[in-house]
Amino acid sequence: MSKPLKQSKRSVRILGIETSCDETGLALLEFISAEDLEPVQGPKAHQDQHSPDQSSVKWRARLLGQALHSQTDMHERYGGVVPELASRDHMVRILPLLEECLDQAGLASQNIDGIAVTQGPGLAGALWVGTSFAYGLGLALNKPVYPVHHLEGHLLSPLLRWADDSSNSREEAQQARFPFVALLVSGGHSQFLEVTGIGRYRLLGETIDDAAGEAFDKSAQLLGLGYPGGPAVAKLAEKGIAGRFRLPRPLLKRQGLDLSFAGLKTAVLTQVQKLGGTEALLAPDAKNIQARADLAAEVQAAIVELLCEKSMVALDLTGHKQLVVSGGVSANIEMRRRLIEAARSRDACVFFPPPALCTDNGVMIAWAAGLRLLTSCSAVGRKAGVSREQAVRPSPSASASLGSSMQVRPRWPLEELG
Ligand code: KG4
Ligand code: ZN
Repeated sequence: MSKPLKQSKRSVRILGIETSCDETGLALLEFISAEDLEPVQGPKAHQDQHSPDQSSVKWRARLLGQALHSQTDMHERYGGVVPELASRDHMVRILPLLEECLDQAGLASQNIDGIAVTQGPGLAGALWVGTSFAYGLGLALNKPVYPVHHLEGHLLSPLLRWADDSSNSREEAQQARFPFVALLVSGGHSQFLEVTGIGRYRLLGETIDDAAGEAFDKSAQLLGLGYPGGPAVAKLAEKGIAGRFRLPRPLLKRQGLDLSFAGLKTAVLTQVQKLGGTEALLAPDAKNIQARADLAAEVQAAIVELLCEKSMVALDLTGHKQLVVSGGVSANIEMRRRLIEAARSRDACVFFPPPALCTDNGVMIAWAAGLRLLTSCSAVGRKAGVSREQAVRPSPSASASLGSSMQVRPRWPLEELG
């Protein structure tokens, strides 16, 4: 029988590749068992070994290398992502970014144990670039490839703990534990999920039309701001006063956890037209400058209020005391502030990803794949004596089967994950 996992000091290195939309993100993470890092002593060690606590993540990551290219400048002039341009740009960038990532790590590609890649959801062409690159690399290196659900990457990013972060043990109590409510708010998705473990996601509610990020992006366009709209609206909102222009809060009073943002965009359009249209609003006189800022503040206030109120409903309905927020919109500072405040009044906690990991990146893809792999092989390994080293080593037939499993899933509901 192989050595128990607990005694093994060997770490696992996973390369994450993200190309689902307009970011080419690569990152090399090294996974280290928290038990290896912080040996537990006395009676607790005994308890951990025999009745493992599955409620929190027991893995830490070390960032060996990271390279990210955002295409926002390229798409800005079109007011949104142009899929064909996105795919072409991923193709040009991906290899140099891998080299940059390996250079930072000071490692050769052979030192990677496995390759994680976003398989969906996202733009089909863009997904194919990352996926075919990952499988090609897997074949060349004889390393396993792990397809990752993009939203699971976002969802699990607030659980990331760095191996070399000295605040880890001090903040142990601050770590999100299963079960919790997840709010996933990105450019293409807005969902509430009940999360009872890795891969155990139950949809509680979602947007019936636009996503929250899309509402920011479309409003930004109407306000003559650049793409992506979220950060631009948030910045302009700092100078404005919400409430001067009143925008609707669709479905706010309706029971349940469905969200809706399409009416908001239409109301912004109507308001902008009343003010003379986008072009006129861009004329640099004091009246226009204030009107744009006030409208931006109201857009942000409406989106934040909707997300906050419904998040509290989600906590009340499930009885959970933890809310884990992720996706590009989770970078929004006003939303963070309001959520923390609202949760506190319910004795609940809110968790966010580090700001740099809110939008698309390779770290979250490597992290999600590693957590899945290592958590399942810890559980299976305990029963079957399979070590995590064995789990990341491809069997001789693994590379032969790579081709047949290579696919992309532009539409892929998160609840389909098991
Ligand atoms: O997660 P993400 O990078 O891509 C998708 O998976 O869709 O999210 C991008 C979205 C965009 O709609 C962008 O406007 C929004 O996240 N976003 C923000 C902020 N930063 C990015 N929205 C509001 N406030 C922000 N600070
Ligand atoms: Zn995303």
